[in-house]
Amino acid sequence: MEVRHLDVGYGKRKKYRQVLFDVDLTLGQGEILGLVGESGCGKSTLSKAILGFVPAAGGEIIHHTSRPQMVFQDPFSSLNPGKKIGWILEEPLRLHKGVIPASERRERAVAMARRVGLDESFLERYPGDLSGGQRQRVSIAIALIQGAELILADEPVSALDVTIQRQIMELMLELQEEMGLSYLFISHDLDVIYQMCDRVMVMQSGRIVEMGDVERVFERPEHPYTRTLLEASQSVDPA
Ligand SMILES: Nc1ncnc2c1ncn2[C@@H]1O[C@H](COP(=O)(O)OP(=O)(O)O)[C@@H](O)[C@H]1O
Ligand SMILES: [Mg+2]
Repeated sequence: MEVRHLDVGYGKRKKYRQVLFDVDLTLGQGEILGLVGESGCGKSTLSKAILGFVPAAGGEIIHHTSRPQMVFQDPFSSLNPGKKIGWILEEPLRLHKGVIPASERRERAVAMARRVGLDESFLERYPGDLSGGQRQRVSIAIALIQGAELILADEPVSALDVTIQRQIMELMLELQEEMGLSYLFISHDLDVIYQMCDRVMVMQSGRIVEMGDVERVFERPEHPYTRTLLEASQSVDPA
């Protein structure tokens, strides 16, 4: 996926307020690109623009793969509370262009649930019966069952306890390796970015101020804002 000179804002005419300024990025197959920056800087807006939920005011977004899928911080709000997990996982297959027989839909849902670490019994449960980590597994499964090659993960572990965070990060890394997935991985947590990503972009007030290999950016930050972020997050130890 490529983003070129992307400008995005909210509101019409006089009320228009620009949020992203001249954003450029390239995300290769099998790559995990991190996006870090403080709350309100425009991280979620970038992922929404890539999905086409927010229109670009300028620039372009070029997709070289199937439609990207989103994994959100709080999957609870995006999972239908009145439907069982099995039904939820089968839903994208029901909406599929070619008809997929019910038995095959169920088989695929079971296989995908297993792949994200949930046994078959979870298919009979409701979202409200699941823990935060289990719900996040379901939302990853939903993205994958739709054949996503690129996943936009917007703070996917920020609402989870540290132990569960680790488990979900490990799952995402395993799936990424197995399936050659690409992630745009958004987090305000530098520790998480350091553990997950190959490259990282640092965003300040809607602009990418620094981009590079994670090791290089953490060890030799070039932009003063990156240094400020690193200093504010004392627990990060790149050694
Ligand atoms: N739907 C919207 N309408 C108007 N302004 C918005 C909307 N969504 C986000 N914004 C504004 O855009 C800026 C960036 O927000 P966001 O992309 O959510 O930042 P982040 O994800 O980095 O916290 C903020 O100032 C926010 O208030
Ligand atoms: Mg956000």
